[in-house]
Amino acid sequence: MWPYPKIVAHRGGGVLAPENTIAAMRCGLTHGFYAVEFDVMLSKDGVPIVMHDPDFGRTVEGAGNVADFSAQELTERDAGAWFGVDFIGEPIPTFEQVAHFCNHHNIWMNIEIKPVPGYEDRTGWVVAQATKRMFEHTLDRSPGALPLLSSFSFEALQAAQLAAPDIPRAFLVDEVPPDWHERLLALGAISLNTNHKHLTPLLARAVKEAGFGLFCYTVNDVARAKEILAWGVDGFCTDRIDLIGPHFGEEPAHISPSLR
Ligand code: G3P
Ligand code: MG
Repeated sequence: MWPYPKIVAHRGGGVLAPENTIAAMRCGLTHGFYAVEFDVMLSKDGVPIVMHDPDFGRTVEGAGNVADFSAQELTERDAGAWFGVDFIGEPIPTFEQVAHFCNHHNIWMNIEIKPVPGYEDRTGWVVAQATKRMFEHTLDRSPGALPLLSSFSFEALQAAQLAAPDIPRAFLVDEVPPDWHERLLALGAISLNTNHKHLTPLLARAVKEAGFGLFCYTVNDVARAKEILAWGVDGFCTDRIDLIGPHFGEEPAHISPSLR
């Protein structure tokens, strides 16, 4: 049913590298992760770039909004220095650069469409179109071979659906809304992606019984990870790629049953 990896490195490398950079993707890979989540928004000139906050100040020094700068200007900004001296000079990457890195290394992508407020439709459309172009010559058409587009923005996902109906979508929510089922159907979404903090076993069962994937963010505690997997959650992303490995939750097949 869930054709994607179960454990996904959040923002590339979780807490071990500056989020949403190529260094983060490399870090995830070094820790054995062949599945990443990252955030995409548009520059002033409509180029998808990989960044979480629409404003500078946290991961990029200074003040300003992503929507007021061209891709050329953004990719000259440092997105690594805030994290540590080892990452000084690590730039804001474009979506194309990150996707190229992931495709080159066979890393599955959960592409979170994270529009700068006011640019929901446009971002959903552009990111979905770009994704479609990247995968149109992929010979493997099985569901797990394609990335998953997710967003908190219903409008962005509607635009993505129009732009690239064949690229799978997930509706991303903090708290599961009462009309979750209608919304998933309206979007033709295959999965509900939700904050594990508000999930209950009852909700998890309802989503699974309705035939959808169920994915959680951001699970950083081993006991909690085991708990939600036992509820039927299909997968989750984690910042603690040092604690929760890519094979977490898998049966250790090499150990004989008598030794378990
Ligand atoms: O895609 C899951 C998760 O990344 C959503 O929250 O704020 O970390 O992008 P955020
Ligand atoms: Mg995200």
